[in-house]
Amino acid sequence: MRILNFWHLLSAAALASAAHLPPRNYNTHDYYAIHLSPSTSPSELAAHLGLTYDGPLGSLVDHHLFKAPKHANDIVDDARQELKRRRRKREAGPEPHTLDSIQFTQKQKIKPRHVKRSVIPKDPQGVASPKAAIQLQRQIANTLEIKDPIFEEQWHIFNVKDTGNDLNVTDVWLSGITGKGATACIVDDGLDFESEDLKDNFYAQGSYDFNDHTDLPRPKLSDDRHGTRCAGEVAAGRNNACGVGIAYDAKISGVRILSGDITDADEALAINYDLQNNDIYSCSWGPPDDGKTMQKPGILIEKAMVTAVQKGRGGKGSIYVFAAGNGAAADDNCNFDGYTNSIYSITVGAIDKNNVHPYYSEACSAQLVVTYSSGGGDAIHTTDVGANTCTSQHGGTSAAGPIAVGTYALVLSARPELTWRDMQWLTVMTAVPFDQPSDWNKTSLGKMFSHQFGYGKLDAYAIVEAAKTWELVKPQAWFYSPWMHVKKPIPQGDQGLASVFEVTEEMLKKANFERVEHITLTMNIQHQRRGDLSVDLISPDGYVSHLSTARRDDEAAIGYEDWTFMSVAHWGEKGIGKWTVVVKDVKVNDKTGSFTDWKLRLWGESIDAEKAKLRPLPDEHDDDDHDVVDNHPAHTTSVVVPTATGAPGEKPSDHPDRPVNQKPSAATSSVSTTPASPTADASATASSAPENFLPSPFPTFGVSKRTQIWIYGALGLILIFCGSLAVYLYLARRKRLQSTRDNYEFEMLDDAEDDEGGARTGMLSNAAGGKKGKRARRGGELYDAFAGESDEDLLSDSGDEGPYRDREERDYNEKAGINEDSDTGGSSSSASSAGKRQ
Ligand SMILES: *[C@@H]1O[C@H](CO)[C@@H](O)[C@H](O)[C@H]1NC(C)=O
Ligand SMILES: *[C@@H]1O[C@H](CO)[C@@H](O)[C@H](O)[C@H]1NC(C)=O
Repeated sequence: MRILNFWHLLSAAALASAAHLPPRNYNTHDYYAIHLSPSTSPSELAAHLGLTYDGPLGSLVDHHLFKAPKHANDIVDDARQELKRRRRKREAGPEPHTLDSIQFTQKQKIKPRHVKRSVIPKDPQGVASPKAAIQLQRQIANTLEIKDPIFEEQWHIFNVKDTGNDLNVTDVWLSGITGKGATACIVDDGLDFESEDLKDNFYAQGSYDFNDHTDLPRPKLSDDRHGTRCAGEVAAGRNNACGVGIAYDAKISGVRILSGDITDADEALAINYDLQNNDIYSCSWGPPDDGKTMQKPGILIEKAMVTAVQKGRGGKGSIYVFAAGNGAAADDNCNFDGYTNSIYSITVGAIDKNNVHPYYSEACSAQLVVTYSSGGGDAIHTTDVGANTCTSQHGGTSAAGPIAVGTYALVLSARPELTWRDMQWLTVMTAVPFDQPSDWNKTSLGKMFSHQFGYGKLDAYAIVEAAKTWELVKPQAWFYSPWMHVKKPIPQGDQGLASVFEVTEEMLKKANFERVEHITLTMNIQHQRRGDLSVDLISPDGYVSHLSTARRDDEAAIGYEDWTFMSVAHWGEKGIGKWTVVVKDVKVNDKTGSFTDWKLRLWGESIDAEKAKLRPLPDEHDDDDHDVVDNHPAHTTSVVVPTATGAPGEKPSDHPDRPVNQKPSAATSSVSTTPASPTADASATASSAPENFLPSPFPTFGVSKRTQIWIYGALGLILIFCGSLAVYLYLARRKRLQSTRDNYEFEMLDDAEDDEGGARTGMLSNAAGGKKGKRARRGGELYDAFAGESDEDLLSDSGDEGPYRDREERDYNEKAGINEDSDTGGSSSSASSAGKRQ
């Protein structure tokens, strides 16, 4: 009884925080998300600034939402600048001011629309099915009392044509596990909670409409079908309507965000909605999959994800499932999408009913698993909007994600105490590799991994069985390398520019780090054509992650700016030894660039659970410490990394670690394989400790004196080069910091540039835009790296506002004439299926 009350209170509190914010109106008001010191009352701040206090920002601790009538300026930031000006002129004293309690502030912008990740296939092909399989299917349906009219069409559940090409879920149901006790939230364009197929499982309290600010996520636009279709895959009831969901006794809620304007604050609220009761968030959308977008969630959304894995589900962590993306035919790669490459999300790609890779499903080193979707002449048959309406046209990675969501609901139903990382572990351990040509290779854990298929296809029976006896992993630990400064031109063609960081046993011990789960690599590259770049990471065990691959349409004249790539391919490695990053400029042309710096982060299991800490919430300056670190030149070497291709089990011909083409030249300053001893001094940099290591005594590199003399000569030159580059980068970085972070140095420089800067400030009021604009200006004085960029280029940063790109996928596919597998490219959402409704 008491427990019940406790949960009741908890969920009531969660509800109050999000649903009880007054509806936003972006036509009349500006909204500010502000992180305040806990000692300051939001109403006091509101009174001071003439804002209206709307309420706490969902589950984000000490974050609040304020509004003010629409105004061109950022009035919060203006007030802070004014206070600084007055302090500088001694018109105001240094004593604490209400404004000093602002830890973070962000005026909310309307986001570019996310794109739904579906593809419309053609009508099913008629192929005769084996009689025995049909009989077995009927027998199962009888035993389970499944009378749903399209159950027999739901090949992803039980495939009678190609036996085995399905989720392998019916024996899970027969064992009594059908999703009871688990709740999945479909974050999408609505959910038809009045549908016969969904109404019994619908969970209203976990639902909300962030587009129209109403409690129920009713689909309203003509193409608001996507969310309902996804919901049907997860938890359509066992009844007389359409088919069944994978977890047909689970609860299903809907949060509507894709059908109108939202801001980062709305999206943060949406993905934390009813955090204690929505166990799994199903996200079949993302930035445009056009092969040229590189976009990550804003800082509030990142904070929301970290909050969810730390506090959601009573501290066990919410499960995020993201569709990998449909841009494969446009060379897109899920590592260019900051949602799919987050360590907190499970990225799910698609295979078709023949276990073949469908043309649309993106590959990347961050992809954990695949499951069934459209292609090969059929698609996913599921519920549609309407009282008893079905579709046979659900497809794309959009349709794969929710099948995983349903499977995870079954897993949680069997074993509710699993943490978010246990779910990822179980996926890695039980996914089933299959016989399709790809870059399969055996990982240190003894599992096959392919960038195209992750660890293989989900098997519901295998994962639920494994979950029953799974020993929970110890809490998360992490190890951060220092920033590795490379600052060298990238050679064109096959040859790469490599940089090495060696992780020692001591470093990991100190970080309480036992074994790797995710690795992330944050890097800066300046380049005149981003699409020409590729990045590989070679682990101490020799496994090669293709972190980034070339994209033919990505013309952006910027390289990578503090972009974080992720890989799950090193799961289970110890992490000790040399990590080598190899950057290539694969196109020989006049577009060149240089590799600035990188930072490796290992995320994994702790050694001692008692000593584990919670990761602090990310903040916008997390990656701004490049130049705080000594600008020690990283050792670099030119290597050719063999690309793994071929069938499962095929051995790569060359050991990738072997450096070839060592061509010492002034241009690339290449140095042959080197122990990365200088960096070994970074042992003190574990976790979030400040990184101020000193260069070690000069190493011998284990080579002859003559070679050493050569090496040190070369190093001398590099040092001189890097020295001057460092000065430039330091200034540029400082400039960049100043435009986003408030400090007193800002004032000094700002004064000097007031005339020039004044006019632009309004335009560049958003953090990212301001950052780039200012840096470019300063950079231009010292270094011509940004020559030729117009303001427009500078403003079109990833993560910035662009034109709306809803439904862009279809346009793209039509233009590209994609018509493989007899599917017609297209976004599900657009009406299309009208003719197909049953
Ligand atoms: C599929 O489920 C059956 C039980 O129905 C099980 O015996 C089999 O091992 C499962 N497949 C895999 C790959 O685990
Ligand atoms: C395949 O994996 C093994 C060890 O796991 C490694 O030695 C080899 O280099 C890998 N090949 C590629 C191309 O990743």
